[in-house]
Amino acid sequence: MTYTSILTEIRGRVGLVTLNRPEALNALNNILMSELTDALADFDKDAAVGAMVITGSAKAFAAGADIKEMADKSVQQMYDNDPIARYGRMRTLRKPVIAAVSGWALGGGCELAISCDMIVASETAKFGQPEITIGVIPGAGGTQRLTRALGKAIAMEMMLNNRTLSAAEALQMGLINHMVPLDAYLDVALKLAEEIASRAPRAVASAKKMINHAYEEFLAEALSDEKKEFYNLFSTADQKEGMAAFVEKRKPEWTGK
Ligand code: CAA
Repeated sequence: MTYTSILTEIRGRVGLVTLNRPEALNALNNILMSELTDALADFDKDAAVGAMVITGSAKAFAAGADIKEMADKSVQQMYDNDPIARYGRMRTLRKPVIAAVSGWALGGGCELAISCDMIVASETAKFGQPEITIGVIPGAGGTQRLTRALGKAIAMEMMLNNRTLSAAEALQMGLINHMVPLDAYLDVALKLAEEIASRAPRAVASAKKMINHAYEEFLAEALSDEKKEFYNLFSTADQKEGMAAFVEKRKPEWTGK
């Protein structure tokens, strides 16, 4: 399979996907998200693969959904194109997925990382949901998964006031599994994935399924509501202003409309 925005390879029994849009800090546009979820679905079906790793670059795991692609979209266009459905495909994978995160994991990038089963981060990783600065909210699980993982107080600060978490904070708060020096985070993630891939495949899949059952019960309805809130904000002047201001590299002026 030839991809334009990701790289794929199999190392040992681990399927590795590298997000590869360096010019946009791996912003998650429709093509990249389609390619990523197709590649993961193929690995999920491949008997030679026991676990998967998603990584980005040292500078950016991913800086969020592609703001330039969605800045001028209407509510109807968001519902018709349904970009959040691509993130939803992550939830259908039976094999474990580990995010190897370095640098920025923002917006949809943070949401992609926390929808994986485990996170190995470099010491330079930064996790955040800056959607409030462009007039919207997280649409791919951030309001739900971060609140469950971190509690209400930190979640509120992250999503209402753009607080970012360092790797050390994320480790201390239990959001990530390991914090590793920059030159080793991918190797550590691959080693963890290889170890898991060497275990009884059906039992691994069952364990993942049941842990998610405990953790993500009631999540489906909440994610659907979050998606609607996110899409409906595309009817506001502040969404148009916030995203235009990002693209034009200026400060937004909010009108509350
Ligand atoms: N979408 C589109 N392009 C992006 C992008 C994004 N999310 N993030 C970065 N880029 C682009 C920049 O526009 C820039 O492109 P140009 O060279 O053509 O100008 C390039 O990537 C490099 O970025 P910067 O020059 O901004 O790099 P920096 O080091 O100065 O700043 C940053 C890095 C703090 C991550 C900054 O790029 C940034 O704030 N990015 C946006 C983060 C954000 O708001 N993410 C949320 C998106 S909405 C979302 O994700 C919704 C959802 O829930 C699914």
